[in-house]
Amino acid sequence: MSKPKVFVTRRIPDAGIDLLAQTAEVTVNPEDRTLSRAELLAAVADCQGVIGLLTERIDAEFFDAAPQLKGYANYAVGYDNIDVAEATRRAIPVSNTPGVLTDATAECAWALLFAAARRVVEADRVMRSGDWQGWGPLQFLGQGVRGKTLGIVGAGRIGTAMALMSRGFDMPVLYTSSSGRRNAVLEDRLDARLVPFETLLAEADFISIHAPLTPDTRHLFNAAAFARMKPTACLVNTSRGPVIKEDDLVQALKDGVIAGAGLDVFEREPAMADGLAGLENAVVLPHIGSATIESRTDMATLAARNMLAMLAGQRPETCLNPDLFAAPAGRTWT
Ligand code: DGY
Repeated sequence: MSKPKVFVTRRIPDAGIDLLAQTAEVTVNPEDRTLSRAELLAAVADCQGVIGLLTERIDAEFFDAAPQLKGYANYAVGYDNIDVAEATRRAIPVSNTPGVLTDATAECAWALLFAAARRVVEADRVMRSGDWQGWGPLQFLGQGVRGKTLGIVGAGRIGTAMALMSRGFDMPVLYTSSSGRRNAVLEDRLDARLVPFETLLAEADFISIHAPLTPDTRHLFNAAAFARMKPTACLVNTSRGPVIKEDDLVQALKDGVIAGAGLDVFEREPAMADGLAGLENAVVLPHIGSATIESRTDMATLAARNMLAMLAGQRPETCLNPDLFAAPAGRTWT
């Protein structure tokens, strides 16, 4: 029997490819770049499986271009790039990679928080320029972290991990919840308080965004939100760029409405809003939240296991449309 064909839209760690190759005929995009839309649609024409990236739109046009598709595995936890409803309508299972990048992304949020609070990148630039004339009492004064209030917007897996990492810094923690559900881990272990968004904006010294991109969260952080924040506050975003209205953020940072920002994601990646690159009080990273060797490898093997399950007609471990699979009698999927 011939092996099912799987296309991987960009090179991922070998561990995932090796696992897939035991069962499938695997083709990996040979170019180290994102494929154009036309290239992507042509490449999936005769595939039963596709492992793809957050930079690709997986929608009706994509599914039309891949009529033999038995499953699509996103190499990311965020899945705002996928029309899951459309996949479900066509009975195509789709999966993502939650869990395996939680700590990496939370650690990245902390790296941004410290870099923004203590002006690390700005100070590094001065050292490299050769302009530093020696120690000075008023140089590069930043915001202290210990005891300051941390606000978590979106206390899911990554938001919870980020908050738990604050324990060494004795930070009161506030969080929001779109569902209104309490986060027992945060409340039991950190005495965290569930508060309305406006309260979090007004009271937090550091705000870290971990909410997925949905119609409700698009531009959640805009000029009105920045105006409610403390002028000393720093905003960190490792979720999705469009949760912040980036032009408004540039203005708020320019005008001193807030003190700083640490951004791993952008509204129109790979571009940044005009003016952002010139701001000393913004630290910017090229979407590397999950970029540890461990996480990216685990993402690859999880995506591969998901793909193999879908090719076999089984429910993948981390399925975005689990209703496509009937639960065995007497059991419900959780
Ligand atoms: C994700 O997984 O959604 C990140 O943005 C990339 O790893």
